Amino acid sequence: MNKKQKKLIIGNWKMNPTSVDEAKKIFRAIKSVAESEKNIKTVVCPPFVYIGEIAKIINNNSGKMVSLGSQDVFWQAFGGPFTGEISPTMLGDADVKYVIVGHSERRELGETNEIVAKKVLAVVKEKMTAVLCVGEKVRDKDGLYFEFLRQQIKTALSKVSKKYIDNLVLAYEPIWAIGKNETEAIKGKDLHEMVIFIRKILTDIYGAEDALNIPILYGGSVTPRNTLELVGEGQAQGLLVGRQSLEPESFAEILKIVGQI
Ligand code: PGA
Repeated sequence: MNKKQKKLIIGNWKMNPTSVDEAKKIFRAIKSVAESEKNIKTVVCPPFVYIGEIAKIINNNSGKMVSLGSQDVFWQAFGGPFTGEISPTMLGDADVKYVIVGHSERRELGETNEIVAKKVLAVVKEKMTAVLCVGEKVRDKDGLYFEFLRQQIKTALSKVSKKYIDNLVLAYEPIWAIGKNETEAIKGKDLHEMVIFIRKILTDIYGAEDALNIPILYGGSVTPRNTLELVGEGQAQGLLVGRQSLEPESFAEILKIVGQI
């Protein structure tokens, strides 16, 4: 990866917490630590309904260190008969800078690679950063998951030309490792292999030099106890953190560990 890039730590709150007050409390606690970690860019992705209130807590200073993200988006930029959907323009207007696209929990609800491709394009066109999630369900003995991943990445990026490359982040989240105990997360050595494999796919699409500018993150049962292994030996350029991003103390520890790598 481009050595000048900061490590990226993204918290995905999923469908939590249950009140806006709680959301603000957790965010404030995360922000106070994130502001002092100069080598890290921290992003918090709350549910849509909390975004407006949390945006008010981010000021000009903290905005360089901490940004808002969303967990999904619709693919049409603005206006239209799409009941219940949120457009990229609306998110941009609400100060959202990063958008998770193609999380496995959305794919489980029916999102296809083709839909993911439309969403990634819509996000980068709106000048936000798309955090494209990919990952296999299982690791079969024959290694078919490598080809599965290649297809996921190639299709999702099929509409995105080189000029948008600075607005792309790839998050490798093997489904078998999400929501588990940390001992079941990927091991550093195996993650390193996946980072190299994904970098090769990105190189095939965009060429070696540009592919280096796309950060490759890891997600799936990240805790303070496996952070060093994942970012050190695993060579991930950042992390996508689920449950532990709702626990400010654990999340702060993760930030501090990565800040020292
Ligand atoms: P987890 O979730 O850290 O709770 O495993 C990660 C994710 O789904 O993004």
